[in-house]
Amino acid sequence: MKKAVSKELTHLAIIMDGNGRWAQKRGLPRAMGHRAGVEALRRIVELCPANRIEYLTVYAFSTENWKRPQTEVQALMALLNEFIDKELNLLNQKGVCIRVLGDTKPLAPVLRKKIDHALETTAQNKELVLSLALNYGGRRELLQAAKALAYRALQGEDPEAWQEEDLAAELFTKGIPEPDLLIRTGGDLRISNFLLWQVAYTELWCTDIFWPDFGEKELLEALAAFKGRQRRFGGV
Ligand code: FPP
Repeated sequence: MKKAVSKELTHLAIIMDGNGRWAQKRGLPRAMGHRAGVEALRRIVELCPANRIEYLTVYAFSTENWKRPQTEVQALMALLNEFIDKELNLLNQKGVCIRVLGDTKPLAPVLRKKIDHALETTAQNKELVLSLALNYGGRRELLQAAKALAYRALQGEDPEAWQEEDLAAELFTKGIPEPDLLIRTGGDLRISNFLLWQVAYTELWCTDIFWPDFGEKELLEALAAFKGRQRRFGGV
């Protein structure tokens, strides 16, 4: 996995939190907050190329989000469906390569088919890699990588020869550099099982703003804060 050059922001990761509270504040159902969250995502995707961001990774649905009321889970899945239906052509034209991090097997077959189609259609695009973390959990990803390595050991590989890169190559993010900056909206200050391995040296930027209100002003503020950071990667 490529280590980011200091001050170059190649990979931006976002925990898009606060959709529910944004809706509640307006007396709207939570699903409307998620819908407004998709709009915010659309805005940020548009802004990436001009800001030389090559990878954007967003936490769209965690392995823990299944615990939410069924109506909310359904609303999120419906939004994902709609997002692909409405945005795929435009994203493709703009050179966006869509990737999914996570296990899509528990998703509805129709939705999985749509996702696979979106991945195939955009696979060769080079302008921006948009990774959607879907049914994603950092611990589960690490467990899966550990199982894959254990299997390789059973096949005769010598674990003593493995380096960190060998584990990284078993993660969903294979081939994607580690995030340079992780933005979390919505006021909480935690990682919430997102990209646990990958954020080891990532700069964090948290804001109280709810995700649907996040726009260009806030993005530029986060990027400016990142530029002011000193990244030492454990050195001096
Ligand atoms: C957290 O807000 C957000 C989520 C669990 C889902 C994020 C999803 C989207 C922005 C839209 C779906 C994405 C695509 C690509 C279609 P929350 O509901 O936990 O907010 P709260 O903390 O205020 O309750």
